[in-house]
Amino acid sequence: EKGTYNHFMLKEIDEQPFVIRNIIQKYQNENGDIKLEPEIRSAIREADRLYIIAAGTSYHAGLVAKELMEKEAKIPTEVHIASEFLYNEPLLSKKPLFIFISQSGETADCRGVLVNVKKHGFPSLTITNVPGSTLSREADFTLHTYAGPEIAVASTKAYTAQMAVLSILAMDSARAKGIDARFNAMQELGLIANAMEALCDQKDKMEQIARDYMYDTRNCFFIGRALDYHVVLEGALKLKEISYIQAEGFAGGELKHGTIALIEEGTPVVAVVTQPHVNGNIRGNVQEVIARGANACIISTEATEEKGDHIVLPEVHECLTPLVSIIPLQLIAYYAALHRDCDVDKPRNLAKSVTVE
Ligand code: F6R
Repeated sequence: EKGTYNHFMLKEIDEQPFVIRNIIQKYQNENGDIKLEPEIRSAIREADRLYIIAAGTSYHAGLVAKELMEKEAKIPTEVHIASEFLYNEPLLSKKPLFIFISQSGETADCRGVLVNVKKHGFPSLTITNVPGSTLSREADFTLHTYAGPEIAVASTKAYTAQMAVLSILAMDSARAKGIDARFNAMQELGLIANAMEALCDQKDKMEQIARDYMYDTRNCFFIGRALDYHVVLEGALKLKEISYIQAEGFAGGELKHGTIALIEEGTPVVAVVTQPHVNGNIRGNVQEVIARGANACIISTEATEEKGDHIVLPEVHECLTPLVSIIPLQLIAYYAALHRDCDVDKPRNLAKSVTVE
């Protein structure tokens, strides 16, 4: 039930800190160690490469998961859009492990891949919010994201829950290989839950940005680099699916290869800036679009004096910023849709679970 909320989407955005705390509990044993089925641990240990298969928002969580698996656990990882993989299979490694990420566990494109994977005899793991779902029943192993039922068509808490579970998995896989991960997943997730809460308390600000930037625009661009690039893809998807504004996420350095031609006086550009090694580059990209007339909104871990609106994120480990930087993007999308009189929870042409190919 929606309770005091007008929309499930806003309720589900607000639930994210609780979901993260719940995940910490579910994946921890009495000693504070990570709790994971030994069979899942060995499946990961035995794999020479992980193939993450997903669609939409879950694919965006997969992009972040790849970074964690490769950078923390040093396991080569590929991420594929399910519907592409299904009809255009890449060259596979000798001992692949397939990881399906799916909120509903019913996405037909993913199931198509799983059926083929099983024919080849390759092992599979489903990460889902619905443990009894098709993808969960048919895969060898399941990890539950514990986000609770997600009703709004636009996925919010399921996405952050997927990334949280995958960060625990990456941490655990690093440990299993004797690698010291750069962060303690459980501790960081605790800080992330607090950071999410602090951002959810700034709804007035997000609403004002949605009104100022999105109220009557035709399009909106999101830019980021490295991990932030994956987040802006998700931010753009959120905005386009519920507000019908043409929204696109771009890698900051790609602007000059074409996209910057679209920037005119008043074009909204939202930049996410959380990765220290590329902060200078992306801030340069922000200056480039501002010089061409863009209205820039900067979501960053450090307050600066640059022109434009600023949302400052509470500090969390740089490997896990997507769990936090997505909150303002979700809220901005919500208020943009609200002010444009769109059906926030049930956008046109979309279904919550896509059971046809
Ligand atoms: C976007 C959205 C979709 C789903 C996609 C995959 O907000 O909800 O892009 O993420 O249809 O669905 P699942 O995760 O159920 O496989």
